[in-house]
Amino acid sequence: MPTKAADGRTDQEKRAAAEAAAEFVESGMTVGLGTGSTVAFLLPALAERRLDIRCVATSPATEANARSLGLDVVPFDESAPAISQLDVAIDGADQVDPDWWLIKGGGGAHTREKVVAAAAARFVVIVSSEKVVERLESPVPVEILAFGAQATLRELQRSVLRPSTPLSPEGGLIADWFGEIRDPAQLASWFDSIAGLVGHGLFPPEMVSDVIVGRGPSAERLPGRR
Ligand code: 5RP
Repeated sequence: MPTKAADGRTDQEKRAAAEAAAEFVESGMTVGLGTGSTVAFLLPALAERRLDIRCVATSPATEANARSLGLDVVPFDESAPAISQLDVAIDGADQVDPDWWLIKGGGGAHTREKVVAAAAARFVVIVSSEKVVERLESPVPVEILAFGAQATLRELQRSVLRPSTPLSPEGGLIADWFGEIRDPAQLASWFDSIAGLVGHGLFPPEMVSDVIVGRGPSAERLPGRR
């Protein structure tokens, strides 16, 4: 269990990464807002800049938080005037490996988060330093359709439904997959092949433009992918 001092340092690093990423945003941009405790530091940093931006949110929690800070949050659905592209999306991650594969979805918002990251010209990942790992370790969060859920879980095998995470905004069930991650690309395509699996928390390096890591009070931009 992390100590209080370690928690304080982690928060300091999350804040440093989030504040550095907020500087990437300029007036006139459309901005995807991720979900989680690191993004919770991004929202006030963005709001303080008083930019003329339109935001889309990856979860009801982020939407409520962003609106309460005065950020303009617009729908990201079929309604008009529709937004079909974003200039930048900024989000946290649970793990980042040396090739920039990510595991996301600790907060269960990975399906929307992936849609938003994919729609963005630039996807910026913000993490505290302990999230940078040599090798990805399970669990990998997944979202599955309620219809046929037991059949999908059976297909996935080593997976467990999260007892206390609410359904996704689309009504999906959130589970965690506990197998071994030997090859993230192979695992991602296996997940993609499973009927009933709506989304998974493996994000490929091609999706990621920048990784900003908090180290103590400062933030460092990881050099290009290996
Ligand atoms: C939510 C996510 C989060 O970005 C991820 O879990 C990191 O969260 P935090 O910033 O709270 O450590 O993917 O679905």
